[in-house]
Amino acid sequence: MSADKSTSWSYAEGLPVEDDVLRRARERSHELGLFAVTHGVAAALTVLAASSKAQTAVEVGTGAGVSGVALLRGLGPRAVLTTIDPDVDHLKAAREAFIESGSPANRTRTISGRGQDVLPRLTDAAYDLVFIDADKPSYPDYVEQGIRLLKSGGLLVINDALDKDRVSDPAIRETSTVVLRKVGKMVRENDSLISAMLPTGDGLLLAVKR
Ligand SMILES: C[S@@+](CC[C@H](N)C(=O)[O-])C[C@H]1O[C@@H](n2cnc3c(N)ncnc32)[C@H](O)[C@@H]1O
Repeated sequence: MSADKSTSWSYAEGLPVEDDVLRRARERSHELGLFAVTHGVAAALTVLAASSKAQTAVEVGTGAGVSGVALLRGLGPRAVLTTIDPDVDHLKAAREAFIESGSPANRTRTISGRGQDVLPRLTDAAYDLVFIDADKPSYPDYVEQGIRLLKSGGLLVINDALDKDRVSDPAIRETSTVVLRKVGKMVRENDSLISAMLPTGDGLLLAVKR
């Protein structure tokens, strides 16, 4: 391999040109001490939402709405995004971003609560897309719930799946790394899923439910 992969990664992350709506959502994320999805992940989410033609999407980990705006921009005009976060300040910032993006209020359902409590209350096989970007220790539960929530043909998207390049090194046993390694294995070994790992951002694990 001739070129440095990290140079290509930085190049790819630098390609998406973001507008003022996403820039302001990123500023609010920063002020709240949150790590929003990277530029590359935001662009990928818009493409994935558009290509999946999803009508119903769920996000765990709203933050200040960077990923939510990216998803809404790919989803169809009648699609609804349900997004879950226990922090009311994060949800308030996200609502501002959704309004600024011009998305009608009835296209987003913001739910204040923990993913562990809210996801089990959502209907089986009723969603086309599930995006996970929240507390890492709960990822295995969110993946299980996500698979239950997805329709056949639905798409599961897991952010930070390479955990800052630590997942690939078996000697690293930090809690978040161990959890994300487990999540990768769960997804790969689940016969009901077709999966792929993209190196975008901090690793974007994709899986389609058969
Ligand atoms: C990395 S930020 C999400 C960033 C957001 N996806 C974006 O790109 O703008 C993680 C979010 O997960 C939320 N969170 C923490 N624990 C959670 C839980 N148990 N259930 C759902 N969300 C949780 C945090 O409040 C925080 O807003």
